[in-house]
Amino acid sequence: MISKSVSIFLLLALFSIKYSEGQSCPTGFQLVNQNKCLRVFAQKLKHLEAETDCSYLGGTLVTIKTAIDNRVIANIAANAGASSIWIGIFCFATGNTTTCYHDDNSGELTYNSFASGNPAVTGNGGCVYMQTSGKTSGQWLSAPCAVVGMPFVCEVPMTVADPTCSHNYNGYCYTGSTEMHLATINTTYERAQSICQSKNSDLVSIHSKQELDFIRAIYRNSGIQQIFVGAQAFLPDTFDWSDGSNWDFDYTDPLATSKGNCLVMDLSDRPNNGMWSQTDCQNVNFFLCKRKIGDATVATTVATAETTEAVNPKFKRASRGTLEQLSYLHNFLSFFLAAIRNELLDFSNCNSTLILAPGTITSFGYPNTKPPITTCTWNIGALGPYRVGVYFTDFSVYNAVYVYDEYGNIISSVTGNMRPFQVLGTSNVVTITHDSRFDAAYNYNGFSATILPY
Ligand SMILES: *[C@@H]1O[C@H](CO)[C@@H](O)[C@H](O)[C@H]1NC(C)=O
Ligand SMILES: *[C@@H]1O[C@H](CO)[C@@H](O)[C@H](O)[C@H]1NC(C)=O
Ligand SMILES: *[C@@H]1O[C@H](CO)[C@@H](O)[C@H](O)[C@H]1NC(C)=O
Repeated sequence: MISKSVSIFLLLALFSIKYSEGQSCPTGFQLVNQNKCLRVFAQKLKHLEAETDCSYLGGTLVTIKTAIDNRVIANIAANAGASSIWIGIFCFATGNTTTCYHDDNSGELTYNSFASGNPAVTGNGGCVYMQTSGKTSGQWLSAPCAVVGMPFVCEVPMTVADPTCSHNYNGYCYTGSTEMHLATINTTYERAQSICQSKNSDLVSIHSKQELDFIRAIYRNSGIQQIFVGAQAFLPDTFDWSDGSNWDFDYTDPLATSKGNCLVMDLSDRPNNGMWSQTDCQNVNFFLCKRKIGDATVATTVATAETTEAVNPKFKRASRGTLEQLSYLHNFLSFFLAAIRNELLDFSNCNSTLILAPGTITSFGYPNTKPPITTCTWNIGALGPYRVGVYFTDFSVYNAVYVYDEYGNIISSVTGNMRPFQVLGTSNVVTITHDSRFDAAYNYNGFSATILPY
């Protein structure tokens, strides 16, 4: 018994040694403090432009979680000639670091180096930069995202070196069907998967917004409009990754109406591309294979959605193992609907301080056909690298639903009974308001919207 556990322990130790030897940073990135792959960009860009550049590399602006990292990052930026740099933090409110979030979806700050009086969101804005020279070197300050240009530091996950791989990310190698010298560069799902498997790969599975952005970048300017991703339905509207990995991230297009047992990823040139929609598995599409590099188990350095609630709520996810829970769910829903009829349960998020994408909002009392009379404000945010996409999936109001940008300018005001539509925010903050006073009187039933970062 004892010897068995000892040998398991030794085996684990062996694996972790092997793993750390294989770890490296992608080309162009330097390894910092044995745990971060960073690259300094000296040109001055506005915050969103800097984030977009990082996202094409599969990363975000640098996230800083220890004093040691903070010091080293200040030094490497200063050595590259930058006296201040954007860092990967966004704060939604003044003077309280509990409203600040890391770009990498790892949640609230556990370490900070804010200069006194910061974050000063109200006066200066939600974006954060670090001074890298002088007495205040290493201190963080608030700055207006869309006004000042600044050098920046991108961070991507560590990976495993593979000279044969042209798209290397987070321990995996990605190869597009157009890069494999195939006779058929687009084909059915089944053929695509068997081609990937003949190359020790699977059709791609996607586990974070960063990975999704890395894939979008592979196809940028390729002219290819969509690709198969490696998922198949095992129940209507309910998908599994074919490579057996967990369904821990969902970027299903909330407005998609097509049906089928496979998924395609949109790569058209709309700003919020990358979303997935259902398609017939017999349709012909381009595809992308994904292969684990070596036999190393790469620690997932990209934080994935923290809770299942954070996964795109359009399609509720049930794994095979939880099928038996479906009948329980059905009972629960019946109870829940009965409860709505009697007493109003509210899931609208009306007047919440902050709704962080992804999420759902509805008008107050929705889906009650006689909406109660009230006014609601929804303050919606996305993490620093992204913009807020609002996808109205059901819409029936008398007074307009207003969508405002972070400066209070109206982006959209829509009334009436509308088919599903989207409103794209111009930054990572939008505010929505609705006054439901005439809805019930004129037989309007309110609205429901899915919020996704884009
Ligand atoms: C910061 O905000 C949180 C949540 O909004 C609140 O609970 C806390 O009291 C605030 N702290 C300070 C110092 O204002
Ligand atoms: C498949 O690839 C060929 C060759 O590039 C192209 O002409 C055709 O339009 C593609 N079909 C689809 C459905 O993408
Ligand atoms: C939301 O806030 C507004 C303004 O404070 C208030 O008038 C309204 O009653 C609130 N709505 C709900 C449902 O709490």
